[in-house]
Amino acid sequence: MSCLQMREVEIAYGDKQVVSGISLSIKQGQIVGIVGESGSGKSTLLKSVLGLLGPTGHITKGQIFFQGQDMTAYGERDYATIRGKEIAMIFQNPEESFDPNQTLGNQFYESMRAHWKIKKNEALEEAKIALSKLGFSDPSRILKTYPFALSGGMNQRVAIALAMIKRPSLLLADEPTSALDVTVQKETLDVLKRLCDKEQTSLLLVTHNMGVVRYIADYVVVMYHGKIVEEGGTKEIFECPCHPYTKQLMEHIPKPGKEAVWNRL
Ligand SMILES: Nc1ncnc2c1ncn2[C@@H]1O[C@H](COP(=O)(O)OP(=O)(O)OP(=O)(O)O)[C@@H](O)[C@H]1O
Ligand SMILES: [Mg+2]
Repeated sequence: MSCLQMREVEIAYGDKQVVSGISLSIKQGQIVGIVGESGSGKSTLLKSVLGLLGPTGHITKGQIFFQGQDMTAYGERDYATIRGKEIAMIFQNPEESFDPNQTLGNQFYESMRAHWKIKKNEALEEAKIALSKLGFSDPSRILKTYPFALSGGMNQRVAIALAMIKRPSLLLADEPTSALDVTVQKETLDVLKRLCDKEQTSLLLVTHNMGVVRYIADYVVVMYHGKIVEEGGTKEIFECPCHPYTKQLMEHIPKPGKEAVWNRL
């Protein structure tokens, strides 16, 4: 059984259709990378899984299954039971992942408390361990701060720790490493890879960076104008891209030099 399956999904904001004919399947523990130009509907697709399309966004056709269960007709209460616990999301804008008015420590505690019986000090200890894995040398200090006090890259790493701590079956990650420098990006991807290996978490990862896809994904989906134009095993797509847009993306893979680390992987 697939962890996540989309069948002929079509999504519109108001009358404007932005995504159509999306069929996609992710196995448990698999890492699928979605690439595509800006505005091609990548974030929309991820948000549709958790019913986060906002007041004007709707799935107008097709079905989404999570572990065999049809979520297409889910209401707000149904989503609330799986959001964060079964399926976690790292948003493209860190502001969407956090409450600006609470310390990060409180946010870790609240998100764990929503699904498990846990004492605050235990939650904070777990949070510290997760933050250490994401490369924070002083996690206690991070837990006492507010999101606005951290850089974009730090917020991205905290958002990853916050999503991972819930041990979801499926992690939806929208450009989770875009604000990180190359070395930290690699370390962060390694943490995500280990999570998928160890816990059999499935990862659906959106990125503009083909180097990231090549490094982490088992399978690649290329989106263009709201549609999937090409998909396949990572090796296959990189060795033999068919669609002109995929070929164009390949030309923009970082060349040796500044980002040479990707070329050594
Ligand atoms: N809340 C919204 N209301 C109306 N239109 C929206 C909304 N969110 C996104 N769109 C439109 O839907 C289309 C897809 O946007 P989306 O953000 O999913 O693209 P994307 O592939 O994630 O782009 P990027 O790479 O820039 O993040 C775009 O035309 C965008 O303008
Ligand atoms: Mg986006």
